[in-house]
Amino acid sequence: MAHLNEAAVKQITEICDRYADENTPLMMILSDIQKEYGYIPLEVQELVSEKTGISVAEIYGVVTFYSFFSLKPKGKYVIGCCLGTACYVKGAQQVIDKFSELLGIAPGETSEDGLFTLDALRCIGACGIAPAVTINGKVYPKLSVNQVPEIVKSYRENGGAN
Ligand code: FES
Repeated sequence: MAHLNEAAVKQITEICDRYADENTPLMMILSDIQKEYGYIPLEVQELVSEKTGISVAEIYGVVTFYSFFSLKPKGKYVIGCCLGTACYVKGAQQVIDKFSELLGIAPGETSEDGLFTLDALRCIGACGIAPAVTINGKVYPKLSVNQVPEIVKSYRENGGAN
């Protein structure tokens, strides 16, 4: 989407128009764009700014503040490791470090083959099953470091079916 072809411009314009009557449309506009494209690069932020009159600085601030939004395309499998307090005290740091080591990427990065994105999350509301990890929305409860290699292998080999 980096070059913003005609179809993308049209669709983003439609999304902006959809919320033209709202007082604070930015979150809704960005959510729809994120859902549609999977990320919100600078070119898109500039177009949203042009269509809504909201400054690029404000849009950039929102996109970078919320982990739900992304400036770059995400991998096929998005691994979200909760680093909230409950998960942290149950070993979440070791879990995310293991994913990081096996995938060769730091939190916030996507692997070169485009398969994995590793995200560090704040509390995801599943403290009772800490440490909690999600992969494309599937929840892995009480995950131990020892389980991480098998999980990575299963996504590499068959999309996490095992
Ligand atoms: S701290 Fe991880 S789910 Fe709440």
